[in-house]
Amino acid sequence: MEIHRLEKIWLAVSLVLIVGLIASIVYGVAGAGVGTVGDTGQTVDPSSLDGTAFADPGGHWAGEDHYVVHVVARQFLFQPGTQEPITVPANTTVTFYVTSPDVVHGFDVVGTQLNAMVIPGQVTKFTTEFDEPKTYGIVCHEYCGAGHQSMAGQLVVVPADELPRNATSANATSTNATATNGTGNTSAAVAAPEVVA
Ligand code: CUA
Repeated sequence: MEIHRLEKIWLAVSLVLIVGLIASIVYGVAGAGVGTVGDTGQTVDPSSLDGTAFADPGGHWAGEDHYVVHVVARQFLFQPGTQEPITVPANTTVTFYVTSPDVVHGFDVVGTQLNAMVIPGQVTKFTTEFDEPKTYGIVCHEYCGAGHQSMAGQLVVVPADELPRNATSANATSTNATATNGTGNTSAAVAAPEVVA
């Protein structure tokens, strides 16, 4: 059987495309440390966040070198984040837990690799560390309704000694309520987001 020269070229191009696509997926999963969605972990009742750590969202120290932040993303603001900035310490492991009581939102810290989906009833967890004090913007990048384009906030990284250590000890126990599975950490400065589903 004779194959036309142009047809051979097209076959070769198709093969390169297929191999390239597969290679890029393998690289994304194995090489770039992109997190995947877990199938076990923390959920909350989106119709009532009372009694969870999200009833009084915000940040607190969870250990000598570990800071935890709970954030509620709702139409059309981040709590905290929009009316008051999220404040986190520099050079410290920071774990975010984010959930939504209404619809799907996004949580994108502009200029970083922090980029997560926020799903009602699910707790999205990701861990990171900020190298230096700096202010970042936060935007919602999932269309969530008429006010989506105005859903934004601020994240302020401050020197670790500027955040009080023991003012919110009552909150510290709430970490248990949201402890989850997952190994979102990578050696990179910012870990891959992980939806704890
Ligand atoms: Cu929230 Cu778009």
